[in-house]
Amino acid sequence: MFNLFKKKKEEVKKPAYLPLKVREVVKETADTVSIYFEQPEPFLEYKPGQFLTLVIDFEGKEQRRSYSLCTSPYVDPFPGISVKRVPGGLFSNFLNEKIHPGKTINVLKPLGHFTTDFHSKNQKHFFLVAGGSGITPIMGILKSVLANEPKSKVTLLYCSRHEEHIIFKKELGELENKYSGKLNVIHNLSQPTDSWTGLKGRLKSETLSDLVKTAEGESDFQTEYFICGPEGILETTQDVLSSLFIPKEKIHKESFYSAAAEAAHEAASTAGGLTRDVTIELSGEEHLVSVSPDKTILEAGLDQSLNMPFSCQSGLCTACRGKLISGEIKMDEDDGLSENEIKEGYVLCCVGRPLTDNVKIRIE
Ligand SMILES: Cc1cc2nc3c(=O)[nH]c(=O)nc-3n(C[C@H](O)[C@H](O)[C@H](O)COP(=O)(O)OP(=O)(O)OC[C@H]3O[C@@H](n4cnc5c(N)ncnc54)[C@H](O)[C@@H]3O)c2cc1C
Ligand code: FES
Repeated sequence: MFNLFKKKKEEVKKPAYLPLKVREVVKETADTVSIYFEQPEPFLEYKPGQFLTLVIDFEGKEQRRSYSLCTSPYVDPFPGISVKRVPGGLFSNFLNEKIHPGKTINVLKPLGHFTTDFHSKNQKHFFLVAGGSGITPIMGILKSVLANEPKSKVTLLYCSRHEEHIIFKKELGELENKYSGKLNVIHNLSQPTDSWTGLKGRLKSETLSDLVKTAEGESDFQTEYFICGPEGILETTQDVLSSLFIPKEKIHKESFYSAAAEAAHEAASTAGGLTRDVTIELSGEEHLVSVSPDKTILEAGLDQSLNMPFSCQSGLCTACRGKLISGEIKMDEDDGLSENEIKEGYVLCCVGRPLTDNVKIRIE
């Protein structure tokens, strides 16, 4: 069934939003709040480490941002997110200033692959590296391991700027006491006070390398790595892991923002080229979308009122993932996809631009 995309706006199905009522807002640090939601009916199903897409109207325009769940479905009765202010940022400042218990926020169902299976029989060493607000999904993972895997253990290397910027400082301290010998939290502060005796300065490759070598030396435990934080921390950690020949399958990474992706997107939008028609298969139905050179495939689809899935719009979260059935596309950024996903032909519509006239993408 081929539809030349003549649907009128009012006929287009709106995405299924889930309204979540805010139960509690906790000020974690001067620039971060945690927002906990009442459980909806039925309960929100999610995997530790996944994210919610918040959908909010600003001046009549619907906007979306992704926020990782900082809670564990195995431990926490109410799902929650933690949001750190970004200077001049639309959502992060709104959520820090204007959200109170009783408010309702529309979200899309939890998504994301920054997770694993938790099982009581596992005997793993979870090596977690977090920077700043990157602690949010890591916190959900950490709590899930401690609650579900009695034979596993966790090392958390957590980089913050200053003592006062450590998100979940008290909760982490309490967990370390409760799970003594199973949880080791190592803080690294880039600008600590003089009295700080822990790791300081930028995260050093040698320090990380020593910790990884020790973890890898324990033959009783299978190591699994989770990294989430700013580009510098992701890069340093990935470089160290690759220099120690840690297999990629053991490494999970999540990125909240990429300046490089933003620059690549800007450059590609103004690079010129041809307008091409792209076929998008969505829920079994085909739609023809005309993509001009200044637009990504997602932007063109949304302009034409096509209900395509998306969240971050920066090639990081994979919410817009589809499979390339024919033709060739160029992605401004493909860091959100694993090597296997790329080999299997997956593409990200939010950063994808057609290079040929026969592009067809199936979105499952
Ligand atoms: C999968 C995923 C999970 C995420 N989880 C969390 C989370 O748990 N907690 C959290 O606080 N954020 C999280 N984020 C980031 C979040 O989605 C927003 O990008 C962030 O809150 C900024 O949105 P904003 O509307 O305030 O800023 P915008 O209005 O979008 O941006 C304002 C300006 O700031 C720059 N900018 C945007 N984001 C950043 C950043 N992170 N660092 C530096 N500069 C930036 C942009 O270039 C822009 O010029 C996540 C992102 C992804 C993709
Ligand atoms: S919408 Fe997040 S990767 Fe495309």
